[in-house]
Amino acid sequence: MIPVLIAEVISENMEVIETIPQMVDWTRQTPRSLGLVPTMGALHQGHLSLVEKARSENVSLAVTIFVNPTQFSESEDLSSYPRDIEADLEILKNAQVDAVFVPEVTEMYPGGYDTWVDVGDIAGKLEGEWRAEHFRGVATIVTKLFGIIRPDFAYFGQKDGQQTVVLNQIVRDLHLGVDLVICPTIRDENGLALSSRNKYLTLAQQSDAGVIYRSLVAGKTKWEKGEKRAVVIRDTVERVLMESDLITEIDYISVADLDGLNEVRLIGGDAMLSVAVRIGSVRLIDNVILSLST
Ligand code: PAJ
Repeated sequence: MIPVLIAEVISENMEVIETIPQMVDWTRQTPRSLGLVPTMGALHQGHLSLVEKARSENVSLAVTIFVNPTQFSESEDLSSYPRDIEADLEILKNAQVDAVFVPEVTEMYPGGYDTWVDVGDIAGKLEGEWRAEHFRGVATIVTKLFGIIRPDFAYFGQKDGQQTVVLNQIVRDLHLGVDLVICPTIRDENGLALSSRNKYLTLAQQSDAGVIYRSLVAGKTKWEKGEKRAVVIRDTVERVLMESDLITEIDYISVADLDGLNEVRLIGGDAMLSVAVRIGSVRLIDNVILSLST
């Protein structure tokens, strides 16, 4: 339930909707095109960049805030995941969002809920090797949100590179009839990709964590200078990461093609250079695209 106090700060123009039937009603009545930005809240400038783009490209705009339990594994941070609904609603009101969907967990997954969207190969790679059920949870909730809201355009961040590939696959395979718009990664002044999970880092760690992006840029620069061997690009990234005392673990450094997320040996077409690292118990991911067209 949204506390009364919060209801007071919401503008008359922004509807805050908690139930599926009310959201479906709103969706049916709203003028099109309709843009959608799905989020798990604790909004930052990265989320806001999606909201602003969606606002500028659509007649109507809906944002969802739902910390989706099915995409967290047991060892992950579901209970401590940052939540600040009051601040989020204020941000969205100022961004001229028309409707915010904030369902309870029981609304999205009532007792007896038992249908899942299982994406094949690509969901098992990279993040999938570390977070087995993660993309099943993401694919399921996004499919459900698309079913409820039926947006024309849905906006996602390149920050979660594999997520964009997985979502493209389900839209294609399940004929969801939504155009996905992938938006650039927003970073802080040190290069650290903005993420709700950065709140787990101290300020000093946050500024040192710029090394993650620096390592990716070093790899990309090598590639731009003509190096095509993925192993050399990965080594370059690793060397920069290892120079920092901050990084306690490197889960993976990957150079993968953009269709199947298969590791490439020689970089021929567009590829994603991505990393997952740990700073103590905080796990961070980032990527850059190696594209001949950018
Ligand atoms: P969340 O992590 O809240 O992110 C919501 C959207 O914001 C995602 O599309 C994500 O890629 C984008 N985003 C996050 N940080 C960004 C940054 N620094 N720059 C640009 N975009 C950024 O991703 C999820 O939630 C969930 O998996 C979700 C898709 C909502 C399904 O539950």
